[in-house]
Amino acid sequence: MSFPSWIEQLGLRLLRKVEPETAHALALRALHLRLAPLPGPVASPRLACRLAGLDLPNPVGLAAGFDKNAQALGPLLRAGFGFVEVGAATPRPQWGNARPRLFRLSAERAVINRFGFNNDGARAIAARLARPRPSGVVGLNLGANKNSPDRAADFAAVLSACGPFVDFATINVSSPNTEALRDLQGPAALSALLARVIAARDALPRPIPLFLKIAPDLAPGEIETIAGTALAHRLDGIVATNTTVARPGLTGPLAAQKGGLSGPPLAALARATLATLYRAVGGRLPIIAVGGIDSGAEAYARIRAGASAIQLYTALSYHGLSLAAHIARDLDARLARDGVARLADAVGQDAAGAGAGTVF
Ligand code: FNR
Repeated sequence: MSFPSWIEQLGLRLLRKVEPETAHALALRALHLRLAPLPGPVASPRLACRLAGLDLPNPVGLAAGFDKNAQALGPLLRAGFGFVEVGAATPRPQWGNARPRLFRLSAERAVINRFGFNNDGARAIAARLARPRPSGVVGLNLGANKNSPDRAADFAAVLSACGPFVDFATINVSSPNTEALRDLQGPAALSALLARVIAARDALPRPIPLFLKIAPDLAPGEIETIAGTALAHRLDGIVATNTTVARPGLTGPLAAQKGGLSGPPLAALARATLATLYRAVGGRLPIIAVGGIDSGAEAYARIRAGASAIQLYTALSYHGLSLAAHIARDLDARLARDGVARLADAVGQDAAGAGAGTVF
């Protein structure tokens, strides 16, 4: 049964009148109550793809931060996504930064957040992840506690606690809202971190793919160094990108708010990061594109620029959760239009120097 879109539109209009963080909490409640479209996974032979050994019905994923505490996993797995990433989880529960810490930039359909890894902690999140749930690929975004003396140990601890209950994990060294977290993207720190987290992954009863999530604020040389480090450690993929500390094209008063910017103003930076990264990994490592994707056209462009899958967050809060299924169906139509039999055949087709194809 298709969900009447007017109910979703009315819900969105009401939520827009509420303070943003409260609106987000209400949206998660509405999901629980099935007051959102839940079409089940959108699947087709063209959209089916393999991401670091994971079989996805379609390449449209939910980005980290939407369901930080894995509270709405069941409904989210029925919302049309090909995969869902929950978290970030830190070892100990933490409140995060003071409210208000989420700002709507409605004219730009963008958001600035400075949550600072507010979450219920790895133990509570692991308990939720261990519950029975509908089938589907689930990942966990790994974070570190604000006051931790050893952040690498934090990432490893969260993975050890929650890893048995998820299909992949993402090492998030790119949130701008935890002081000095992004320093872990530097070569020596990153190498030490990856060694530590990979050891924790290898100790799991069932080792899972590990991704690294990077910032859109890196210089091309830094992106290339990170790609080299990821390849040297045999990481399974890179997520590009997190939110930006830049304020491209923003003029309103909220632009001055501290935090990470997401939505369409981030798109150009995320695209540029993807292009540099794809050139650097040369098809040896899958890339998950995220940042300002709000349509099938943009999702398809990122795939043709080198992404093996994509993720969404901010666009869902402006267009509704039904956007996920809409983008997946639109992607399917675009592949059919271009005579592409499988999504994998489109990956990197528009990248500079394309033609070598992927080898993972
Ligand atoms: C995020 N994002 C995020 N990323 C991450 O790796 N761990 C996290 O905990 C969060 N938390 C979070 C909260 C909020 C309110 C937002 C808006 C974003 C970043 C998110 O996953 C994504 O990378 C960016 O938002 C860019 O994609 P969109 O939103 O432009 O589609």
